[in-house]
Amino acid sequence: MSLLAATDVSVAYGGVRAVSDVSLDLAAGESLGLIGPNGAGKSSFLAALGGQVALAGGSIVFDGHEIGRMPPYRRARRGITRTFQMTSEFPRMTVFENLVTAGHGAYGASLRTVVLRRRETRRAEETVTARAWSVLDRFEMSHVADLYGAELSGGQRRLVEIMRCLMREPKVLLLDEPMVGVAPHLVEKLIADLRSIREEGIALVIVEHALEVVQELCERVVVMALGRPIASGSFEQVVSDPDVQAAYVG
Ligand SMILES: Nc1ncnc2c1ncn2[C@@H]1O[C@H](COP(=O)(O)OP(=O)(O)O)[C@@H](O)[C@H]1O
Ligand SMILES: [Mg+2]
Repeated sequence: MSLLAATDVSVAYGGVRAVSDVSLDLAAGESLGLIGPNGAGKSSFLAALGGQVALAGGSIVFDGHEIGRMPPYRRARRGITRTFQMTSEFPRMTVFENLVTAGHGAYGASLRTVVLRRRETRRAEETVTARAWSVLDRFEMSHVADLYGAELSGGQRRLVEIMRCLMREPKVLLLDEPMVGVAPHLVEKLIADLRSIREEGIALVIVEHALEVVQELCERVVVMALGRPIASGSFEQVVSDPDVQAAYVG
């Protein structure tokens, strides 16, 4: 039984197909790498799973429910969520506020509603606050709780984006190039953090150019080129595949 099953998923921009009839299964707790040359459709496919682009065709079943036409916030509520590079509110809120806002699932809601502290929401408030501190503590980020998003380093930013997702207790985390902007000496820490998330039982789908990251984290790798999967297997299997090598060379 797969947790996530994409069947014949297509994405098009105008008349141009970026993703063509991609079928892919993900087991609970599995860590899947998605690689391929620029323009292969990796980000578009990830956005199709997260709900940020509309499907031009196909279906996505998650945890027994068709989610292919749901908006992102409803998918997130069910447990599938994608990290975002710098949402609009991110730089103007502190790290702590970012986490609390994500914990309320208030995508698009103003910070005011979070801060109002109506009596009926106080209990939920306390739960979310406690979770924010525990997530900060776990990733050794408590010392930046009061910094604004704009003040963070690239690596800290990536981590806060991931922590925002964890506030929702997801079953699947979709990561689009999590290592972009991360200083080389912090890449190992971020890999270790992602490994600990995986060990907790959260499934990962990782699009990443840095192949050593995929090699370290993913038990299965799918290679895409021109909107379609061209190979699938262990990291070692796919990188030695002549079709994959040809796709990278172009
Ligand atoms: N918002 C967009 N509008 C139009 N074309 C897009 C858009 N996003 C991606 N594309 C095109 O779709 C194709 C796949 O892009 P993308 O999913 O970003 O690939 P990858 O992440 O593998 O580099 C490319 O040809 C790209 O130019
Ligand atoms: Mg991309």
